[in-house]
This record gives sequence, structure tokens and C-alpha cells, in this order.
Amino acid sequence: MRLFNLIFFFIFISYGCKKDPAPISGCTDLLATNYNPNAIISNDDCIYFNTTPYTFQNPYGFPNMNIPENNPLTMEGVSLGEKLFNDPILSADNSLACISCHQTNSSFSDPNPVSVGIDNIAGNRNASALINLGWNTSFNWDGSVLSLEEQAFEPVINPIEMHNTWQNVEITLNNHAEYPQLFKNAFNIDYIDSNHVVMAIAQFERSLISTNSKYDRFLRGEVQLNPSELNGYAIFNSEKGDCFHCHGSQMFMDNLFHNNGLDSEPFNDLGRGKITNNPNDYGKFKTPTLRNIEFSAPYMHDGRFFTLEEVIDHYNSGGKYSSTVDPLMKKIGVGLQLTNQEKEDLIAFLKTLSDTDFINK
Ligand code: HEC
Ligand code: HEC
Repeated sequence: MRLFNLIFFFIFISYGCKKDPAPISGCTDLLATNYNPNAIISNDDCIYFNTTPYTFQNPYGFPNMNIPENNPLTMEGVSLGEKLFNDPILSADNSLACISCHQTNSSFSDPNPVSVGIDNIAGNRNASALINLGWNTSFNWDGSVLSLEEQAFEPVINPIEMHNTWQNVEITLNNHAEYPQLFKNAFNIDYIDSNHVVMAIAQFERSLISTNSKYDRFLRGEVQLNPSELNGYAIFNSEKGDCFHCHGSQMFMDNLFHNNGLDSEPFNDLGRGKITNNPNDYGKFKTPTLRNIEFSAPYMHDGRFFTLEEVIDHYNSGGKYSSTVDPLMKKIGVGLQLTNQEKEDLIAFLKTLSDTDFINK
């Protein structure tokens, strides 16, 4: 009897050892947020959390947008991001919102050459226009950050911008009458942390897409360009104006850094060189898109030019020589030698990139 028991016991033990690992319990319903592809038990653990996908039209000729897998665009996320972008609550003294420096009518850029933060201290750079950012591979004039999520951490704590702390932002938002529910709707979280704040802002920024300029409609065959605009288009895309090498593609930027001959050495702002510490990068800046350029004056990283006429005069002069000036600035000392009519045509073409739907949205 005892032996029998013992044998039974061993069979039991060895059976137990050979058995597969315990099944993972969890939810198998594809519609649930905690869907677990390894689950083989039941749907008792399913949590249903519904967001509405945010759909958008890729501008004509653009590649697909680069969207991080963990932060897809949803209606809830984009509208929360928009609210945060417009809300001075992110600044230490509740006085300055993102939109204060990135103003809608200026294609989400600052109409002042350099921006002033909450302590009335001015920075040394012009606030970039926020447009079609979902296709940028780096951000800020020097490309110091590689994602919109990462970028949004900065202005909040920058002493010459919103001069706040993330700890303080979290406390304020978690005690707010509306934000906890909005974050719950967008991300299904009960505690608002800084990561989700920047995720929402980045979603909103990716939704700032311009697809309806006259130029886009021309490409779609919906409108014609007039002779002056067409001539400007030709100058832009030929060796004569040579703009297309850097501001090429339908995005009108190349995601690269160039020195376009604004200054000779020593440079006031090392630009890309400040990030890489490589003297070959001194004085180089990220090529900005030219979309909506009519609205985003003043121009260049320091806002030195107030009109497109001044910008064209700069390029027409051939630019200034320095050791890092771009080899594509081929006409240094000679200039492009555009006639007044050609300059006007080039500007007329640049204005076909204006999208009033975008700034009135
Ligand atoms: C005090 C003015 C100011 C405020 C407030 C501000 N910004 Fe900016 N922003 C700037 C300036 C100036 C730059 C250019 C910085 C640089 O290149 O060094 C910039 C750059 C950016 C860029 C990079 C765009 C590109 O094309 O590379 C993004 C994105 C951005 N800001 C988003 C935000 C968000 C989001 C907020 C709010 C959380 C915000 N900004 C608040 C002034 C401001
Ligand atoms: C060698 C590359 C290169 C070429 C060629 C070039 N650009 Fe640029 N462009 C840049 C860079 C880089 C900047 C930003 C420079 C800075 O702020 O320091 C810029 C800035 C601009 C700006 C200001 C944008 C803003 O948001 O402030 C305009 C407008 C512009 N370029 C138009 C043109 C036109 C028109 C041509 C042809 C006549 C041209 N560019 C040729 C690289 C180039």
C-alpha cells in the first residue's frame, strides 16, 4: 500500500515536471486594450478602452509619416495635445503657452526675431514654424533632439522659456478639474506623468499638416500657376537659383544641415557644431521647410531678415565666404545675378506654398 502510494507520488511529480509552463491568463479579445496574444485562458481580464484613430491625408509627394509605434495619433490624444499647447498652465507663472511663441497666424512661429520667455529674457534664436513636423528627422535649428516627444520636454523647463519643473507640471495637471479625465480618455492612465504630456503634445504637432497650398493644388492638377509663378518655379529648380538642392522635394527641406553663407567666421552661433563639437559643422543649421514661408517672417535661425525680398537679396549676393560654407553656395563673390523681374518671380513662386487652410484651422 505504501509502496503503491510512493510510486503514485513519483508519477505525479514527474508528470508535474514535464508539464508546460502554466498558461498565461489574460485577455484575447483584439478589441481590448490589454489584448495578450499569449493568453489561452479567458477574457475575464479584458479592459476596454476606446480611442478614435486620427486619420489624415499625406501631402502629395510626401513619404509616409514617421510615427512612433507607442504613440499613434488618436482624436483624443491630438485634441488633448492641442489644449496643452494652448494652455499657459505648463509655464511656471501660468503666463506663457507654447502658442505664445509659436503663433497660429505665423505658421506656428514667432513674429519676433527671437523669443522672450517668462522672465523677460530673450533667447538667441527664432522660434521655428511648426509645420509638417512629422516628416522631420531632427528638431531645433541645430538638430539637438530626434523626436517631437523629446523636444517637448525642453521648453517647459528651459529657464528662458517656460521655466517650470516637470514635477510642478505633474502636480498642477493631476489636481486640475479637466485634465485627469482627458488623459484617461487619451491614454487610459490614472496618474498624469510627463511622458504622457509630451506624447499628447507630439500627437498634436504631427497633426499640423499642410496639404492645400496653391502649389499642392497645382500638383494635383486642380489649378494653374501664372507665368510669373511658373518662371519662379523654374528658377528655384534650376542651376540659376539653385534653391532645390537644399530645399528640394515636396517637403522643401532635406533634413540636413548647411551653412548657407549668412556669416563669415567667427560665428555668433555655432549651430550644428555646438551639438557635434565638430569644427566642420560650425555655422551649419537645419534647412527649414519653405512651406507657408509667406507667413513665418522673420527668417533664418536668428530672425535677421524681415521680408522675403531680403532673403532673396541674400542668396542673390552669393552669400559670405567661410570655411564651412556649403559647396552648393556656388556663386560666392559672383552672385546669382537675378533681374528684378526674376526676383519677383521667385517670390511669387514661394507664395504659392502658402496654405491659408492650415493657419485658419
Ligand atoms: C519662449 C518662446 C517659446 C516657447 C514658450 C516655446 N517655444 Fe518652441 N521654440 C522656440 C524657439 C526659440 C525654438 C528654436 C530653438 C532652437 O533651435 O534652438 C523653438 C523650437 C521648437 C520646435 C522645433 C521645431 C523644428 O522645426 O525643429 C518645436 C517642435 C517646438 N519649439 C515646440 C514647442 C512646444 C511643444 C512648446 C510648449 C511646450 C514650445 N515649443 C514652447 C521658442 C519657444
Ligand atoms: C546650401 C543649401 C541651401 C541653398 C542652396 C538654399 N538654401 Fe535656403 N536655407 C538653407 C538653410 C540651411 C537655411 C537656414 C539657415 C539659417 O537660419 O542659418 C535656409 C533658410 C532659408 C529661408 C528662411 C526660412 C525660415 O524659416 O527662416 C528661405 C526663405 C530660404 N532659405 C529660401 C531659399 C531660396 C529661395 C533659395 C534659392 C535662391 C535657397 N534658399 C537656397 C539652405 C539652403
